[in-house]
Amino acid sequence: MPVKISPSILAAPLAHLGQAAKDIEAAGCEYIHIDVMDGHFVPALTFGDQITTAIAKESKVPLDVHLMVAKPEAEAPKYFPLKPGIITFHYEATTAPIRLAELIREQGSKAGLSLNPRTPVSVLNDLIRYFDVILLMSVEPGFYGQKFIESSWQRLKELNALKQSEKAAGRQFEIEVDGGVSDQNAAALAREGADIFVSGSYLFKGNMKERVQALRA
Ligand code: DX5
Ligand code: ZN
Repeated sequence: MPVKISPSILAAPLAHLGQAAKDIEAAGCEYIHIDVMDGHFVPALTFGDQITTAIAKESKVPLDVHLMVAKPEAEAPKYFPLKPGIITFHYEATTAPIRLAELIREQGSKAGLSLNPRTPVSVLNDLIRYFDVILLMSVEPGFYGQKFIESSWQRLKELNALKQSEKAAGRQFEIEVDGGVSDQNAAALAREGADIFVSGSYLFKGNMKERVQALRA
């Protein structure tokens, strides 16, 4: 399966988000990754639904909304009118992940669950059937431009094993890797089962078209 690319618009020049959305579309990417940070779940405050709505008007590329917020139950519905391709929230932030996943699916978006680097992959055992995407954080959430955490390789292996066993049972989900993804690790990540690559600083700190091609290669 060819990989999907989801550039993190947080790493774009923030006063020019419209242009960044157009660049992502021109580079042929499958998604625009929107890092919503609320200043509580993570220290930084980035964008919310209003700026996301403005970004959505600038291109036809489906949104990949990554909610790094303390109250995803309250925040996720604000994005429903935008019909995102994926809405992802954090395992660590919710006590009722199944209910929220079902609500997201009812809206026609893919339901994503994200795990921080220190959250065991085994928490997914009872949850996986409710999700279409698992977003594996390969850095601690909060900032772009961080170094890929090496223990993510082992976590990806475990997640890929889960993907194969789900497949055998007739169910499927996609693996999305977020944090420190570049041409240096993309090929190995794809080999280990990654389906969707989030990439911020690598894609925005050079020629995006060329770098998207490099990630796909
Ligand atoms: C981190 C965000 C990531 C980040 C990716 O909290 O979830 O999406 O912006 O940026 P890079 O590719 O620079 O690590
Ligand atoms: Zn992200």
